[in-house]
Amino acid sequence: MAEQTISKITKAIQAEINIPGDKSISHRSIIFGSIANGLTEVSNFLTGEDCICTMNAFKALGVKIDFDEKAKTVKIHGQGFNALKAPNGDIYLGNSGTGMRLLAGLFAGLPFETTLTGDESLSGRPMARVIDPLTKMGAVIESQEGGKAPLVIKPSQGLKAISHQSKIASAQVKSSILLAGLNAQGTTTVTEPEKSRDHTERMMQGFGVDLEVNGLEVSINPGKELQGQVLEVPGDISSAAFFLVAGAILDDCKLKLNNVGINPTRTGILDVLTAMKVNYQLENKREINKEPIADIIIRSSKIKATTIEGDIIPRLIDEIPVISILAAQAEGTTIIKDAAELKVKESNRIATTINMLKTLGVEVEETDDGMIIQGRAGKDFEPIPEAQINSFGDHRLAMSCGIAALKSTKPITILQTEFVATSFPNFFDIIEGL
Ligand code: S3P
Repeated sequence: MAEQTISKITKAIQAEINIPGDKSISHRSIIFGSIANGLTEVSNFLTGEDCICTMNAFKALGVKIDFDEKAKTVKIHGQGFNALKAPNGDIYLGNSGTGMRLLAGLFAGLPFETTLTGDESLSGRPMARVIDPLTKMGAVIESQEGGKAPLVIKPSQGLKAISHQSKIASAQVKSSILLAGLNAQGTTTVTEPEKSRDHTERMMQGFGVDLEVNGLEVSINPGKELQGQVLEVPGDISSAAFFLVAGAILDDCKLKLNNVGINPTRTGILDVLTAMKVNYQLENKREINKEPIADIIIRSSKIKATTIEGDIIPRLIDEIPVISILAAQAEGTTIIKDAAELKVKESNRIATTINMLKTLGVEVEETDDGMIIQGRAGKDFEPIPEAQINSFGDHRLAMSCGIAALKSTKPITILQTEFVATSFPNFFDIIEGL
């Protein structure tokens, strides 16, 4: 098990950071490139383990994919969905909920059996949220007790379209059903209670799929052939989030984060920065492959507490562990609610975030669907004597601890840091560089 010990930064910092490619978009570039016809060329691909698992899945199904890890480029020689071939063994998706849920939807339409497996964390996460609607479409999926992975996906008698009202705002559920809808008879519609990230919709349209968005409702008409594309992956705002918080909480700090995706379904954290009076600006706004991008400048700030609730939650769900560090440095009490989904992420992020904050010496109260955090008004964290935090195999927890340690009276040792490689392989190198 890997661990890292990080100490306080005492000097002024001015730095420019290139944010690695977006995880959600990188997964999708492999999926759509693999079922399109012709060459798809991807640049700034996230070389994290999650996305590599998705790439290996399609290689196992016979797709020719050239990956240059150093250059972060991928060339996918797609020959269409019908060219996919039965794999030799199980398909291992590591730590990735996105990989498993999206592939379950797509593979439901294959004429052969596939078995999707994952690591311990992924094998404990709920899959019924995709199995149930996919089964309504005619998919045949066997799971373990309680709707857990491994999933065995058998050939169906033919998928039929459904109109699905999702109880949760989940892009993984929405995308899984839309991917099954590509191979179903009729028009498939998914309606969400709040808007979740819409990268699938944008990318499907870019590949030529007949897809319509109407507020919270998305409909897909199958039949059109997908055409290979040239894609540049924007930097991941969920990875940028760690340095947005670092820039705000550290003294004498100015950071420029280059090339960050600012798709409005992902920018809840920017709205929180505004609400908490953090000093930041967006520069050089542009758009690539239907995804908006900007550079973000962030400076040391006098942070004020806020309440985070309602439909902003899906727009910042992955950022809550690091937002809790920002809140812990604010003046006043921050309330986070409507975030029960945190319990079924890579770890139970309500429990693991609270454990992190308590170890840092922060006063925090757990609630059913979030937490209440007493801010320290800019005072350094004063960790408990054994300044050691278990990240419980959760990459975003480990990185949040890494940021907090930069403003701690004592060095902090973070356990199980190897999982950072799932989404941000060079995170600790950047921290060291600072
Ligand atoms: C993702 C959707 C979100 C998010 C995850 C990535 C995606 O999960 O938390 O990190 O790429 O579709 P849910 O769909 O479970 O909310």
